[in-house]
Amino acid sequence: MCGIIGFSGTADTKDVILGGLKRLEYRGYDSAGIAILNNDKINMVKTSGKVDQLIELAKKNDSLTGSCGIGHTRWATHGVPSDVNAHPHMSSDGKFAIVHNGIIENYIEIKNELTRKGVKFLSDTDTEVIVQLLDYYYDGDLKKTLVKVSSMIEGSYALGVLCTDFPNTIYVAKVSSPLLIGVGVGENYFASDITAFINKTKNVIDLDDGEFAEITANKVFIFDSKLKEIKKQERKVTWDVTAAEKSGYEHFMLKEIMEQPASLKATIEPRIKDNKISFEELNIDIKKYDRILITACGSAYYAGCVGRDIIEKVCNIPVYTEVASEFRYRNPIIDEKTLVIAISQSGETADTIAAIKEAKSKSSDVVAIVNVVGSAIAKLADYTIYTWAGPEIAVATTKGYTTQVAILYMFAIWAAHKLEKINDDTFASLTKDIKSLPERAQRTLDLNTRVKKLADKYYEKKSVFFIGRYLDYAVCLEGSLKLKEISYIHSEAYPAGELKHGTIALIEKGRLVVAVCCYEPLLDKIISNIQQVKARGAQVLALAVEGNKKIFTESDDVLLVPKTNELFMAVMEIIPLQLFAYYVAKKNGCDIDKPKNLAKSVTVE
Ligand code: AGP
Repeated sequence: MCGIIGFSGTADTKDVILGGLKRLEYRGYDSAGIAILNNDKINMVKTSGKVDQLIELAKKNDSLTGSCGIGHTRWATHGVPSDVNAHPHMSSDGKFAIVHNGIIENYIEIKNELTRKGVKFLSDTDTEVIVQLLDYYYDGDLKKTLVKVSSMIEGSYALGVLCTDFPNTIYVAKVSSPLLIGVGVGENYFASDITAFINKTKNVIDLDDGEFAEITANKVFIFDSKLKEIKKQERKVTWDVTAAEKSGYEHFMLKEIMEQPASLKATIEPRIKDNKISFEELNIDIKKYDRILITACGSAYYAGCVGRDIIEKVCNIPVYTEVASEFRYRNPIIDEKTLVIAISQSGETADTIAAIKEAKSKSSDVVAIVNVVGSAIAKLADYTIYTWAGPEIAVATTKGYTTQVAILYMFAIWAAHKLEKINDDTFASLTKDIKSLPERAQRTLDLNTRVKKLADKYYEKKSVFFIGRYLDYAVCLEGSLKLKEISYIHSEAYPAGELKHGTIALIEKGRLVVAVCCYEPLLDKIISNIQQVKARGAQVLALAVEGNKKIFTESDDVLLVPKTNELFMAVMEIIPLQLFAYYVAKKNGCDIDKPKNLAKSVTVE
């Protein structure tokens, strides 16, 4: 996915656009560009590399003046990261410039057709077909032309368009990819994410699929494909610019790890009334369903794996998990008696959106657990439960994951009580345990210095195993992904009992094995697995619950986490693993907030 921004107003357009691109850089960072409309000419600078490189080039370019502009930071899908493939893309005659987030599925047919008609393409991107189509069909009425071109392209797009015939004006169009309008005083914005302009205005209009807008400094005119005006509600963003800044931390990831007690508190407390959990947003009869299916991608999927075990245990109904990119293609056997829970931090993940559509086509009710207010998934689901984690900027999720887990914990005992599987006293007691999680998370963060030392000891490992049993195994999946995605060290999460069925062949002298041993009913079992890998030369870093003495004689290093109800340990377990991944990546000089090849939200298949 990519980040797009546009501005029309009287301030210094170049500074506004470049500042916004810096805030959008977590969405994609292999190339970037800016275009500014100055009277009847569009001036553009674009480059492969990060936004800082664009800023250096733009500073030296005096032609980038004007009161209206667009900008783009790219995560390449079609066409390698290069100057020519960077956005904005301009029409051959320089009349149009566009920025685009999404994928045009039928770009090859369009490109071939326009080439046959004599249009010269400069780039290998899908996006360029849009600007060439605009130029080819333009008859002086840009709104009509934009609607026509939108009807010709298939796929996902959030578009920003400049045209030399319309000074100080930007046109936008949206299908599937996120596009928000920021309403200022004497200035207006559009962007992929509020973070791009949160320092300028908190008044936002969420554009919906199939809607268009004409944006000038003093007016936002939203219209549909029949050019009919649409009146839209403005909303005010509740968080402020510091939430989208590092606030003194070296990396967003460390800031967001440290924010977890607060984000857990913000997510849990509003849903506890009279010591009971209430989901006002969940107007469902849980007794209607005979099973639950949880679908998501990446870390959200791993949060779902934690939820699966807990919901199944306390509700005693079958709960399945399915990676969204698989679920959407396997013709799942679900129906109106299946409750589907879709989890997504960004609310824009293409595979999860598709999975929700698949579930709804099979008459299943869909509950979404989402962090970004007004996101596509929040709008698509039948019911949405927001994690109140605040904006998460680092590509590697941390507070997004733990707040998802907290919602799943609350859902599990809320549903168990509704299903009369637990009585009032147990419900109140489990609610109290969940309410203590922010404080437990705060205490777990005290391991920070100790984890840093362990990262200094193990950062040169080339391959790491994470092993655990039952609830601990679900946490191993996320701990392993954290290490992989920011330190680029290969690692695998394995059910500890599965090691001897083949994988133990990979255990050799010096292999690091992280053993998560917090689910105490299975402690003896995992200790025997530790002994098996130790016998083959492994070094073992064990994660256990405070008070566990036995673990020390079995492991090379031990991290003890605060004890709470054995059902709800995942939040405490994952924090040291997040910190371990962070410090190992830092020690290895990796770009922690913007890991190579990744983007914050995968809005393409
Ligand atoms: C998590 O650290 C990764 N960045 C990635 O796995 C992410 O969790 C996944 O892409 C799902 O994103 P979503 O929660 O925004 O849908």
